[in-house]
Amino acid sequence: MRKILQKIIFEKRKKIALKERIIMTNQLKNLFNTQAKEYYNLNNRTFIIDQNNKKFLNVFCKYFAQDPTFETEHNGELDKGLFVFGSNGTGKTSSFEIIQRISKIYSINQIWTPIISTQNVVEQFNLSVSNKKDDVIKYYSKGKYMFDDLGSEIKASNYGKEDIFSRILELRYNEFIKKGTKTYITSNLSFEDIKERYGVRVYDRCYQMFNQLELNGKSRRF
Ligand SMILES: Nc1ncnc2c1ncn2[C@@H]1O[C@H](COP(=O)(O)OP(=O)(O)O)[C@@H](O)[C@H]1O
Ligand SMILES: [Mg+2]
Repeated sequence: MRKILQKIIFEKRKKIALKERIIMTNQLKNLFNTQAKEYYNLNNRTFIIDQNNKKFLNVFCKYFAQDPTFETEHNGELDKGLFVFGSNGTGKTSSFEIIQRISKIYSINQIWTPIISTQNVVEQFNLSVSNKKDDVIKYYSKGKYMFDDLGSEIKASNYGKEDIFSRILELRYNEFIKKGTKTYITSNLSFEDIKERYGVRVYDRCYQMFNQLELNGKSRRF
């Protein structure tokens, strides 16, 4: 009985999810392909899909297309944000920039995400006078954001040194619980490294806030 009920609920949720989808996975993959070619072409590069990024790109596109198989086949949760991690130069930042580009060109607002580097946030914090510093933290604690290269930023100056992303991520966790606000991150750090740098509270919250997607391989920079 319970199993039947669960199945009905699941089917219902799936139907709703499909109805709310703004774009089908294959459509998004096609757009990604076209736009990635143009994006990389700006730097005189050819868009390469190989064994290192094939799986990642598949799951990444499924996520932004709100594909239910992201949950059923990839153990993900569509309500959470994304934590894309892996070594340098594998295409983490550019993948988000391509999604941003698709959103802009085809006016798909649901996938629009502002991107800011963590270092830039720290600079804004450092440049603010002391009674305005908290405003910077508050500003980046609300609304959807992609924080690029978490872990590469230097510690902020605040009567000594402080890792302000501990605070930002904790506040964003509260927003996630209250409103479902999503956070996206690219990083060279793993969750274990996050624990070391930002503390165990942030580390615990990361599990609840993020799907972890790994993108490794040799650097594509040359
Ligand atoms: N799939 C790809 N095909 C071609 N060039 C790529 C691809 N992915 C990344 N690049 C290039 O490799 C470099 C590193 O990419 P980037 O997204 O900045 O990596 P990361 O953020 O993981 O360090 C950039 O110059 C980018 O244009
Ligand atoms: Mg990057």
